[in-house]
Amino acid sequence: MRMPTLSSLAALAAAVLTMAGVSYPKALTYTLPEETATLRPGPGVEPAQNHCLKCHSADYVNTQPPNRGKAFWEAEVTKMTKVYHAPINDADAKSIADYLAKTY
Ligand code: HEC
Repeated sequence: MRMPTLSSLAALAAAVLTMAGVSYPKALTYTLPEETATLRPGPGVEPAQNHCLKCHSADYVNTQPPNRGKAFWEAEVTKMTKVYHAPINDADAKSIADYLAKTY
C-alpha cells in the first residue's frame, strides 16, 4: 500500500475542519468608556497625575483604605517602579508618596 503524502494529509485535515464548521476568529475591536475617575486635589497632585494614571485608573488609588500612612504609600510607589517598571525618577516618587500619604 502506498503511504499517503504529507500534502494529501494536510488537504484531508483542511477538508475535515471545513466540514466541521471550524473557522478562525476575526480580530475584535471595542471602544472603552471615557475615564471619569480623578485623583483627589492636594499639594503635590501634579506628579501623581503625570505618572500614576498612565497604566490604570485613579480608582486603584481611590479605593485603597483611608489613612494607610507614609510607609504604605512609599512601598506602593516603589512597587509601581520596581515591579511594574513605571519610569518615575526618585524626586517625583518621593513627592508622590508624600502627596498620597497626606491626601489619602
Ligand atoms: C507601568 C504601569 C504602572 C504605572 C505607571 C503605575 N502603576 Fe499602579 N499598578 C500597575 C499594575 C500592573 C498594577 C496591578 C494591577 C492588578 O493587579 O490588576 C497596579 C496596581 C496599583 C494599585 C493597587 C494595589 C496594588 O498594589 O496592586 C495601586 C494603589 C497603584 N497601582 C498605585 C499607583 C500609583 C500611586 C502610581 C504612581 C506612582 C502607579 N500606580 C503607577 C501598573 C502601574
